[in-house]
Amino acid sequence: MQIHETIAGLRAARARAGRVALVPTMGNLHDGHIALMTQARAHADEVVATIFVNRLQFRPGEDFETYPRTFEADCEKLAVAGVDHLFAPTEAEMYPQPQTYQIEPPPEQAGILDGEFRPGHFRGVATVVMKLFQIAQADVALFGKKDYQQLMVIRNMACEFNLPIEIIGGETVRAADGLALSSRNGYLSAAERAQAPLLYKILTKVADAVRSGSRDWAGLEQGAVLELQASGWIPDYVALRKKVDLQLPSAHDSGLVVLAAARLGSTRLIDNLEV
Ligand code: PAJ
Repeated sequence: MQIHETIAGLRAARARAGRVALVPTMGNLHDGHIALMTQARAHADEVVATIFVNRLQFRPGEDFETYPRTFEADCEKLAVAGVDHLFAPTEAEMYPQPQTYQIEPPPEQAGILDGEFRPGHFRGVATVVMKLFQIAQADVALFGKKDYQQLMVIRNMACEFNLPIEIIGGETVRAADGLALSSRNGYLSAAERAQAPLLYKILTKVADAVRSGSRDWAGLEQGAVLELQASGWIPDYVALRKKVDLQLPSAHDSGLVVLAAARLGSTRLIDNLEV
């Protein structure tokens, strides 16, 4: 695996490559990331992974400083997964001057759900992803459904800007007990880790209720919030939405997804399930 710290280095490698698949990450890689790398293989001749903890998408007081940085272990995992190139730029390489031009996704998509609780987050994500697309000039990029709203924002950005890149969503990879793999799971204490699968259990319950015919979206959401609270969680939201645009469903809509974000101790977990 070739490691590139500069844009010029990656561009030179890209110029020599055929069809390229891009998998952007912030590192601290787990099997969810690696599943995207493996899928990427099937879509291209060469796979480019990126590791960059993007300051722009963190709010003041969030975990930018403490976000786990495990570069050596990440490199080993990527090499084992058969990734051809790793782009791991410094902050000075990505943001040599303040990033005054940024991508502002529409509030209907980026100001709801996670965007409501993390204002500006999707602006930071869209901006860095746009830069990574321009830098890597890949033919296809893979993103996980674990971050469902992020995937939607990136899809729509690529579509509205006519970006010559195909966006592919990968299924969420879970631990045996259902907990969606996440770099932030490492923040959980042993007791919290034991409690953490409750989020997936509750999402499963809501999805099952919808599948068996319930159309009382608000009632289902509220029941889920109360159940989380009863176990000591602090939920930001549990929401049934339309898969395509994450807007509110009407009673006859199908193709739904149930999304949730909740804090367990000081760790904020997100998850979702397509119905
Ligand atoms: P990060 O959280 O490192 O995630 C990188 C990619 O892995 C994202 O597409 C995410 O959806 C996917 N992913 C994370 N956990 C997963 C799981 N359990 N199963 C499947 N896929 C999973 O998302 C980001 O980084 C950043 O916002 C980024 C897009 C890199 C921009 O900075």
